[in-house]
Amino acid sequence: MEKKTCKIAVVGCGVISKAYLNAIRDYFSVIEVVACTDLDAERMNKTAETYGIKPMTYDEILADPGIDVVLNLTNPGAHYTITKAALEAGKHVWSEKMIAVDLEQGRELVKLAEEKGVRLGVAPDTFLGSAIQTARYILDKGLIGKPLTFTASISRDYSVFGEILPHLRKKGGSILFDMGGYYLTALANLFGPVREVAAFTATNDPVRKGSRVDNDCKYFGEEYTIEVSNMVAASLKYDSGVLGTLHMNSDCLYTETTGITVFGTDGILYMPDPNKFGGEVKLQKLKAEPIVFPATHGFSVNSRGVGAAEMAWSIIRNRPHRGDMHMALNVFETAHAIETSSAEGRVVKLESTFTRPAPLPAGYLDNGFWGPTAEAALAL
Ligand SMILES: NC(=O)c1ccc[n+]([C@@H]2O[C@H](COP(=O)([O-])OP(=O)(O)OC[C@H]3O[C@@H](n4cnc5c(N)ncnc54)[C@H](O)[C@@H]3O)[C@@H](O)[C@H]2O)c1
Repeated sequence: MEKKTCKIAVVGCGVISKAYLNAIRDYFSVIEVVACTDLDAERMNKTAETYGIKPMTYDEILADPGIDVVLNLTNPGAHYTITKAALEAGKHVWSEKMIAVDLEQGRELVKLAEEKGVRLGVAPDTFLGSAIQTARYILDKGLIGKPLTFTASISRDYSVFGEILPHLRKKGGSILFDMGGYYLTALANLFGPVREVAAFTATNDPVRKGSRVDNDCKYFGEEYTIEVSNMVAASLKYDSGVLGTLHMNSDCLYTETTGITVFGTDGILYMPDPNKFGGEVKLQKLKAEPIVFPATHGFSVNSRGVGAAEMAWSIIRNRPHRGDMHMALNVFETAHAIETSSAEGRVVKLESTFTRPAPLPAGYLDNGFWGPTAEAALAL
């Protein structure tokens, strides 16, 4: 009989685990979450109790033959160790972004997954959401003609986020490696692999004092150092010939400006924040105002876990999964190339490559407008 579900263990029961566990419970029947673990026993036990799953040590998870997939939701600094141990134990892994911290670690994990013949999928999975899949549909249908250039830009205030989640001001967690994951993955899904990078990065005002008392911030009045860049201006050249500009600033306003604009021979495509699943996608044609393009795909609300669910269906159906490690490695190498280009004052050529993931089937809107359910699209 065909296997119907993949059994998953969650490693890391922090902020994002709730979004995953709620969405998996509500939308993704292909995943059966059976266990969880965390270095913080209180978090682990609370998560286990809330979701009716078993608290286990990581060694117990690795030794359990009934667990197929490790869902790595730890902080970026722990991604490499947790993923490596799971791959070595012969388990499939879905990891939060980025794949690791150091480039060599990322390359090693991809090689290890290949050697072991197991899946490694890496977030963000917002690229499977309604907005980015609708943008892909517009592009693939030729509605803006040949895509030539893009601008991608985000401003954020990381004093807000960095005082709640200190990993955001450490190596592997800057705006480039954190939010950059969403932007570079959305662009990878549209244009394929990046080939060359020329960039400048800098850190404005690296020594700060904690200023927030909300959201359990523990650093009020304490001096801390921002160890990473908070300004990024990069030029990217894709294999497909597309040229683009990536601008990031994490020392600006909490009210964010986000978005990607793609300029083609026959039109302009306006995309919303790639950190979200939904949002308005607009198309502008010659001598016309931009129109909001009707969504062609489902998953418009917070659907974190859709990438892991798509990987679970791919394991069951024995076909490639979309949130593939080779795309994640090119995204990761691009972020590293941006820092290297700035540090060394040169154009950096990338080694990694990947084939663009197939788009999800169109027509499966959130309540199954054209089909039974949006999850059905993942099974095809
Ligand atoms: N917070 C968000 O909004 C958000 C959104 C999308 C993605 N992410 C990504 O999710 C990941 C986790 O982020 P978070 O915000 O949930 O962080 P968090 O600090 O709230 O949670 C991480 C958890 O992992 C645990 N952990 C760390 N090392 C571990 C280890 N070796 N073994 C077991 N547990 C370990 C920590 O104790 C903590 O409970 C990051 O990669 C982040 O980029 C976060």
